[in-house]
Amino acid sequence: MSDLFNFAPKTDSYAVMGNPITHSKSPQIHTAFAQQTQQNIQYTKIHVDVGGFAQAIGNFQAHGGKGLNITVPFKQEAWQLAEQRSERADLAGAVNTLQFQHDGSIYGDNTDGIGLVNDVIHNLHWPIAGQRLLLLGAGGAARGIILPLLKQNPLSITIVNRTVSKADKLADIFAPYGNIHAASYAALKNQQFDILFNATSSSLQNTLPPLPDTIIGTSGYSYDLMYSDSDTPFMQWAYQHGAKQCSDGLGMLVEQAAESFFLWRAIRPDTQPIIQQLRKTSTGIN
Ligand code: ATR
Repeated sequence: MSDLFNFAPKTDSYAVMGNPITHSKSPQIHTAFAQQTQQNIQYTKIHVDVGGFAQAIGNFQAHGGKGLNITVPFKQEAWQLAEQRSERADLAGAVNTLQFQHDGSIYGDNTDGIGLVNDVIHNLHWPIAGQRLLLLGAGGAARGIILPLLKQNPLSITIVNRTVSKADKLADIFAPYGNIHAASYAALKNQQFDILFNATSSSLQNTLPPLPDTIIGTSGYSYDLMYSDSDTPFMQWAYQHGAKQCSDGLGMLVEQAAESFFLWRAIRPDTQPIIQQLRKTSTGIN
C-alpha cells in the first residue's frame, strides 16, 4: 500500500433507506450540509424491499457505512434493531437515525421532534413554553414529536384523534413527562389553543381534520408537518379561521437532518440557506 493511499482523505458513507425513496430530499440536504461544513462524506438513497430491512442494514454496515437515515415504512423496525437508543427515540417508538459505533453496535436516535422544535423556536420564533398546544393525530408522526415538545414546557398538550383510543394510549405513555391528555374532536367545541400541530395524514388526502371553527385563538399559530410548494389545505383552513401565522414542515425536514448530521459529524450546519434553496425547488405535497 503506498503512502499516498494511506494519507488519502477518507470519505465516510451515509444513506437514507426507505420504500418509496425516489423523492427523498435527504441526499440533497446532507450533501449541502457537507459542502458547507467541509465534511468528506457521501450520502446516497437506498430503496429497500419490505422484509429486507435488517439485511440491507447489515450490508451497509459491512461495507463500512457510518450511519443511516430511516424513513417510511422502516422506522419501527429500525427502533427494534437499534441496540442502544436515545430517550427521545425510545419513547417515540421509532428511529429515523442510526449510527454505527466503533464496536459494531447500532445506536438509534429520533431527530424528528427536535427538528420540529428547532424550526418552531429558532426559525419561526413562535413561543412554545407556557402555551396551549393541540396535536392533531395519534400515529407515528404524532408520537415522534411529543417528548421534544413537552421538554419545552408548554402549559399543556391536547392530543386529538378520530380514533380516540390511540390518543388515550399516547397520553398515557407521555403523562410522566408533562401535562398531556387526549380528546375527541367533538370535545374540542368551545376550546381554544395557541398552537396547532397537524400530524395527521389528512393533507396528503387533500382533506381536513374535523375541527371546530373557533379552535384557534386570535394570536394562534398553525404548523402542518407536511410540506408543499403552496399552502397545504390545513394551512389555508387555519388562515381562514384566525391563525396569525402558519407554516408547513419543510423547516422541520431540514432541521431533523441537521440534528442527524450533528450526531454523526459533531458539527452543526447552518440550516437557513438550505431551507431557502429547497423552498425554491420543491414541488407538490410531501
Ligand atoms: P403517520 O405515521 O404518518 O403518523 P399513521 O400512523 O397512519 O401515519 O397515522 C395517521 C394519523 O392521521 C392518524 O392519527 C389518523 O387518525 P386515525 O387514527 O383516527 O385513523 C390521522 N388521519 C388520517 N386522515 C385523517 C383525516 N382525514 N382527518 C383526521 N385525522 C386523520
